[in-house]
Amino acid sequence: MPPRRYACAERMPEKASHAFTAKMCAGSRYMESQRPDALFVDPLASKLAGPQGLAQPMGDWIMVPRTRFGDDFVVQHYMGGTRQLVMLGAGMDARAYRLRLPDLKVFEVDLPILLQDKEPLLEGESLTVQSRTVVPTDFSSGEDWSWKLQNTDFDPTQPTVWLLEGLMMYLTDTEAAQTLRRIGGLSAPRSSLFFDAISASYVHQRIVVGGAPFLGGSDHYGALLQDLASFSRTQVWDFSSLRIDRRNRRLSKDWARSLEPTDLYGRNLVLFVESQKI
Ligand SMILES: C[S@@+](CC[C@H](N)C(=O)[O-])C[C@H]1O[C@@H](n2cnc3c(N)ncnc32)[C@H](O)[C@@H]1O
Repeated sequence: MPPRRYACAERMPEKASHAFTAKMCAGSRYMESQRPDALFVDPLASKLAGPQGLAQPMGDWIMVPRTRFGDDFVVQHYMGGTRQLVMLGAGMDARAYRLRLPDLKVFEVDLPILLQDKEPLLEGESLTVQSRTVVPTDFSSGEDWSWKLQNTDFDPTQPTVWLLEGLMMYLTDTEAAQTLRRIGGLSAPRSSLFFDAISASYVHQRIVVGGAPFLGGSDHYGALLQDLASFSRTQVWDFSSLRIDRRNRRLSKDWARSLEPTDLYGRNLVLFVESQKI
């Protein structure tokens, strides 16, 4: 039997646990920020993590490479002329307050309960980008958040950098497909996207993080991005093949090879997926 494009486990209704995972991520960003050889510094991480996130950090094993990969990705595309960044499942991210990209418009999309918690914590803080706009939605509700985004100053005729860090594994196959379809509909040529995800087999490990279960993963992100979002140039990295080079304070993929679906079948892998719409 051919492998399924998407593997899926049962959904649990809890959403507070999803919002909590964002605090865990900020907890790890705080810890990294304390190091003399830090790969990024997030001055708001402690405040955004709060006592709960600081007590239960997500883990530097994933947060250091993922955050730095995302930072490099945004900066690289900003240098190439992209002026809008949309983060789906933005969580307690503070790039709008730490990346010095003065012409960048930042849009953060996440659960209403997360944003209700986050916004008061940011009062009085100074942006390092042009603007920051938040869009509350629940990707599992079926709501068409793309209309909400288009009611802001987001411009779908201009290229966009999309980041979905720590989101895809919490969505079912249907929700992930719908999300990618909406991204495709909002993405002008030269848009780019980065997300982390898990391979199809990994879903069967029934991982739960901070109370939120992993629900979806795939061995076919290249095909999904092409079919659902018209993103045609995809590279899939085994995240463990990326090297944290602390001496030079950079993330290196010099020795990594982009993987094909056949490399993934039957393997439990955490993937970094990057893609471009030509
Ligand atoms: C693991 S956190 C990652 C947060 C952030 N991207 C980071 O790297 O720090 C997952 C984020 O996805 C959001 N999320 C999960 N499921 C969601 C859903 N169904 N709708 C909207 N946001 C969701 C959570 O609220 C949370 O902020």
